[in-house]
Amino acid sequence: MAFKTILTFALLAVVASAAPSKKVTCSQGRVASDAACCKWFDVLDDIQTNLFDGAECGEEVHESLRLTFHDAIGFSLSAERQGKFGGGGADGSIMAFAEIETNFHANGGIDDIVEAQRPFAIKHGVSFGDFIQFAGAVGVSNCVGGPRLQFLAGRSNISRVAPDLTVPEPSDSPDTIFARMGDAGFSPNEVVDLLISHSVAAQDHVDPTIPGTPFDSTPGDFDAQFFVETLLKGTLFPGNGSNIGEVQSALQGEFRLQSDATIARDARTACEWQSFITNHNLMVSKFEAVMAKLAVLGQNPRKLVDCSEVIPVPSVAKSKSAVLPAGKTLKDIEHSCRATPFPVISAAPGPATSVAPVPPS
Ligand code: HEM
Ligand SMILES: *[C@@H]1O[C@H](CO)[C@@H](O)[C@H](O)[C@H]1NC(C)=O
Ligand SMILES: *[C@@H]1O[C@H](CO)[C@@H](O)[C@H](O)[C@H]1NC(C)=O
Repeated sequence: MAFKTILTFALLAVVASAAPSKKVTCSQGRVASDAACCKWFDVLDDIQTNLFDGAECGEEVHESLRLTFHDAIGFSLSAERQGKFGGGGADGSIMAFAEIETNFHANGGIDDIVEAQRPFAIKHGVSFGDFIQFAGAVGVSNCVGGPRLQFLAGRSNISRVAPDLTVPEPSDSPDTIFARMGDAGFSPNEVVDLLISHSVAAQDHVDPTIPGTPFDSTPGDFDAQFFVETLLKGTLFPGNGSNIGEVQSALQGEFRLQSDATIARDARTACEWQSFITNHNLMVSKFEAVMAKLAVLGQNPRKLVDCSEVIPVPSVAKSKSAVLPAGKTLKDIEHSCRATPFPVISAAPGPATSVAPVPPS
């Protein structure tokens, strides 16, 4: 048989074997591509009302997004190569073994959201690993201009305790962070892509005297303000002094992690950092891509069911470009990408920006 004919048959076979449409109608007439996805609509309704205070992008959302990382990054390719257990990745172990993993230093404060989420996972009979990634994806969809993350369901509920020291610390150098993240399969630029999450984030524990102090001026918006504001020359501490992992920020009421400051200025990553400032679409698509990777660390995605349709469509971004906070000029920017000039962005009008804390909910 001619090669072309074989190819035609092969293509036909692929088409024929492609799963037939399993479209099913779930509660409230919502349609899913697979019956296994229906229960996630019920989880969605429950957590939007009872965990996220009516689909807000507040503290529980921020913490849930952070938790997707702290569960998944318990994963080490080098340990696996040496025949050791490097952690099961996005396997729910941080919830199953909370009494051990939440005591790891880098997991400071994560116990709150683990305990807040656990009853929902148990009530709905879904695995801890699935629940953590689902809650993060739903949560960040509540943020203005947010991403619509992929959600694959079907992670096993059986896990083992992740080893300590897999979660980066804000006092770690870029070399240390890039090495650790590389050991989980992420390039330095993908670390920047993951740090887009810090656009909707605040700290409670680096300086415990000022809980709720955000990393940018708009912690309820999934926007690029974080990428501008971290590049401003640091001039002040929002609290009463320097803590381990903290450096000076540029705005009253805003917190700057040492790791965000150094990665923003590192020659390996400064251009990726700058690239989001005037390109909201790029920022969203890079985050969606890197989170799809994070969410299946240690998993075989072909064994999971795509239930992404359950994730809400986020509201549209207010603007495609970040601005300079009021009171700042381009001279205050520590331009760090050698290849590309700093983009021309406008300055917000009015008196110098100061940032209000994220209220606890
Ligand atoms: C380079 C590695 C990273 C370091 C060193 C780091 C460090 C930190 C620190 C120290 C905090 C403050 C925690 C507290 O005091 O309450 C924080 C918050 C946060 N992080 Fe990261 N992070 C990193 C990567 C990530 C990634 C990959 C994600 C998600 C994909 C993420 C999401 C968040 C979120 C959403 C918060 C805010 C939590 C809240 O407001 O309660 N971080 N991070
Ligand atoms: C998952 O495991 C935990 C114990 O770690 C258990 O409490 C929970 O009910 C299990 N969930 C499912 C769906 O099996
Ligand atoms: C910062 O505040 C805390 C709590 O109010 C206090 O214990 C500590 O001494 C203060 N540190 C400085 C340097 O003022």
